Amino acid sequence: MAENPSINNNALKLADKVAIITGGASGIGEATARVFADNGARVVVIADIQDELGSQVAASIGTHRCTYVHCDVEDEEQVRNLVQSTVNAHGTLDIMFSNAGILSPSDQTVTELDMSQLDHLFAVNVRGMAACVKHAARAMIERCVRGSVVCTGSVAATHAGSKGTDYTMSKHAVLGLVRAASVQLGVHGIRVNCVSPNGLATPLTCNALGVSVEKLQEVYARYARLEGVVLTPKHVAEAVLFLVSSESEFVTGLDLRVDGGFAYGKDQ
Ligand SMILES: NC(=O)c1ccc[n+]([C@@H]2O[C@H](COP(=O)([O-])OP(=O)(O)OC[C@H]3O[C@@H](n4cnc5c(N)ncnc54)[C@H](O)[C@@H]3O)[C@@H](O)[C@H]2O)c1
Repeated sequence: MAENPSINNNALKLADKVAIITGGASGIGEATARVFADNGARVVVIADIQDELGSQVAASIGTHRCTYVHCDVEDEEQVRNLVQSTVNAHGTLDIMFSNAGILSPSDQTVTELDMSQLDHLFAVNVRGMAACVKHAARAMIERCVRGSVVCTGSVAATHAGSKGTDYTMSKHAVLGLVRAASVQLGVHGIRVNCVSPNGLATPLTCNALGVSVEKLQEVYARYARLEGVVLTPKHVAEAVLFLVSSESEFVTGLDLRVDGGFAYGKDQ
């Protein structure tokens, strides 16, 4: 895709920034990759395990500013290589959006917890998140970069439901990670925040429930407190943009809920 000469890249929120997005091949990660590129990021590295899809997304954004790297966040060595190869190729790392996450295939009520599913979910949602924060922070500290890290939490980071016990546990852990990291990395000028969406239609949720985007949006709309708007990946991406841009320069350790008021209902 050719550069648009009418865009002044220096005036954009992420001018010259180098960003990594895990889980960037799909859903919230993909939408965020597009928003970062539209806001002038010099390079967006999409890291995922869906190689074909990730490469397609990178190509559609434009290979001059978006690349795809295979990285399974369960494997710390792959995360270390992802960060290292990004810094080697582009000179720095300003932004880590640690977003890759999964659901377990079964309901995972507490009495029916399948421990091997729980282990796998934790390996991605908790261990993987921690590895991404760890290696991004190390690279930023090494290069004296006052960078920004955002992790994808969920309303499940602060609320529980009738199923998905392991998912709820994992997202509570993500919030703990963000809080600890924000306290420890503040001395280096590195900000660490959490973005916590309510349920929204992405391949994750549509596949889990076996329904179309339209059908799922309809279902979520029924439970929404904020009427007249349906939560989309773009809404979440815009919140992430705020958290990684200089507009939130003094914001760290925040759990930014993109939940349309879900947290404050009397029936929660
Ligand atoms: N969709 C929702 O309702 C919702 C709500 C709140 C929070 N979230 C969170 O948002 C994040 C993104 O989810 P989404 O809804 O966009 O789902 P999605 O399935 O569309 O995207 C997730 C991406 O993560 C990738 N991924 C999975 N395991 C990985 C691994 N081991 N290593 C690297 N990449 C891996 C997948 O291939 C996929 O591309 C997740 O952390 C999820 O828990 C989703």
